[in-house]
Amino acid sequence: MGALTAEHAGEALTVQRAAYVTEAQRYSAPDIPPLTETLDELRAEIEASSVLAFGAWLGPRLVGAVRGRLDGDRMEVARFVVAPDMQGRGVGRALLDAIHDAVPATVRTLWLITGADSVQNLRMYERAGYRRVADRKDSVGVAITLLEKQLGH
Ligand SMILES: CC(C)(COP(=O)(O)OP(=O)(O)OC[C@H]1O[C@@H](n2cnc3c(N)ncnc32)[C@H](O)[C@@H]1OP(=O)(O)O)[C@@H](O)C(=O)NCCC(=O)NCCS
Repeated sequence: MGALTAEHAGEALTVQRAAYVTEAQRYSAPDIPPLTETLDELRAEIEASSVLAFGAWLGPRLVGAVRGRLDGDRMEVARFVVAPDMQGRGVGRALLDAIHDAVPATVRTLWLITGADSVQNLRMYERAGYRRVADRKDSVGVAITLLEKQLGH
């Protein structure tokens, strides 16, 4: 587990695209934002001072990543991905723990969105202390659920 920096942008894009294909298939939505994000957009975001970015490596191989987008007293957990062949082995949980441990003290609320029918994701987030707060449609019409976790620090 470590900082994801601009030099990892290409690998991170590859893992992200691979991980999100299953979600895109689930919703018949190939244009979900994690799949349309460009390499330049990804690189710019992980270089931004308002973004925390972590990667998980197995030897030299990047197998997972996550970003935290800071905005005042809120932080969005985004682009949370693990390579398809490495899912279900605890890599995601470790990434979520890493980003939770790095949250600045000024942040009171963590939030994220996930597909409304992504049952495994919803269960994982609820076990990690997130609560469902709203359902809506995203920019490409996919039903999504907004979850939040209040921090006590
Ligand atoms: C969601 C994701 C990052 C979780 O990473 P992971 O390494 O598979 O997760 P872990 O092995 O640490 O398991 C943690 C939890 O994730 C759940 N999970 C979610 N998606 C899973 C998947 N595809 N395979 C296995 N477990 C999955 C597990 O049930 C587990 O739940 P539990 O803690 O309640 O038992 C990963 O499955 C992934 O990249 N999925 C596709 C992209 C995506 O949906 N990202 C999140 C968008 S909000």
